Amino acid sequence: MQIFGLDIGGSGIKGAPVDLDRGDLAQERFKVLTPHPATPDGVADGVKQVVEHYGWTGPVGLTFPGVVTDGSTIRTAANVDKSWIDTDARALFSERLGGHPVTVVNDADAAGVAEMHFGAGRDRRGTVILLTFGTGIGSALFINGALVPNTELGHLELHGHDAEKRASSKAKEDEELTWEHWAHRVQKYLAHVEMLFSPELFIIGGGVSRKSHKFLHYIEGIQAEIVPAQLQNNAGIVGAAMHAAEQAG
Ligand code: BGC
Repeated sequence: MQIFGLDIGGSGIKGAPVDLDRGDLAQERFKVLTPHPATPDGVADGVKQVVEHYGWTGPVGLTFPGVVTDGSTIRTAANVDKSWIDTDARALFSERLGGHPVTVVNDADAAGVAEMHFGAGRDRRGTVILLTFGTGIGSALFINGALVPNTELGHLELHGHDAEKRASSKAKEDEELTWEHWAHRVQKYLAHVEMLFSPELFIIGGGVSRKSHKFLHYIEGIQAEIVPAQLQNNAGIVGAAMHAAEQAG
């Protein structure tokens, strides 16, 4: 079975039809840049372009980079325009896509669900935390395979700062940090998350998961196992489609 998965990020809006049996993209993904400012209207246009690129008319699962409650209402907007707050995202996207059924889920939660099913978290019990490092830091917390949604661990306070402002991959780029320097910040962040949750496993996702050989060896003193995400940057798209399939029953 195929469902369209679409991942809205701080820098790009990317999607593709997803093969839910294999947990992989059924076609090469297509991406448009996230508009700036990333208003509901501008992002909805980007979403429409990506879906229309494939002539897709079926159900669409979307991710959003903020807290999503009731499967639709946006509650936070750290890296997109603040006018998203209290927007009924499902109604907005469904209307813009000409009435297709749509679902909306937090981006890191979607990536986590995909990794737990098809990737680095498969068959893992206990406490597992997936962290995505990109424009912000996203988190997905699993207890014996069950997701605790909207955990927002990227906004933990670390040395008086919002953690994602120090340790996201955007912080690495903006401050031109070396891999070693950035890994040191990530290590402090992981130590803090470990102190709170004592997970068995950390899965490192987001764009940097492809480059884990450049920084994972610098991270020391963490008890939990640390592994890169296996679906890499497609985890959000796959997880968005899985969420849509689950909602459709
Ligand atoms: C948002 C999260 C999101 C993460 C990654 C954070 O700033 O608050 O909801 O998962 O960025 O996009």
